[in-house]
Amino acid sequence: MKNIKIEINLEVFESISELPNSIQDLMNKAHKARENAYAPYSHFKVGAAVMLDSGEIVSGNNQENAAYPSGMCAERVAVFHAGSTNPNATIKTMTLTASSLNKKVVAPVPPCGACRQVLAEYEVNQKTPITIYFMGETGKIVKANSIKDLLPLTFDNSYL
Ligand code: THU
Repeated sequence: MKNIKIEINLEVFESISELPNSIQDLMNKAHKARENAYAPYSHFKVGAAVMLDSGEIVSGNNQENAAYPSGMCAERVAVFHAGSTNPNATIKTMTLTASSLNKKVVAPVPPCGACRQVLAEYEVNQKTPITIYFMGETGKIVKANSIKDLLPLTFDNSYL
């Protein structure tokens, strides 16, 4: 028997103004997308923006449904849109923000497990890491250099 220790490295920024300019811009696009989220059931709005290798920015937000499980998270709306319109592009960076009608979201909100799995599929296929920055409505921003850092022991197509 032996132990395996998995270590991840995250960076924490105090506010948007501490981010590089291009990431501030990408985060602002995520905030903009969040405003248009369709979240009448959870009142929890999420916005995501991805930067492609071409420089193009694609954004998305959560889209809920009266049949709750039929809704879709912001991250997946964004990457599926990017994948459908730019099938050969590499996703360089994703920014993510969330807000709630019930409380001020100040804690950085990471992507849910299902979205991590979907993001991992893109990362594995493109063979270069996706950097992700996530935050609440305001407050600190967490940066992960790869989806692998958020989803160690990823299940991917190498197992099929
Ligand atoms: N949501 C996202 O859009 N992304 C996540 O990573 C977590 C959850 C959405 C789904 C649902 O519309 C609402 O937030 C509450 O779960």
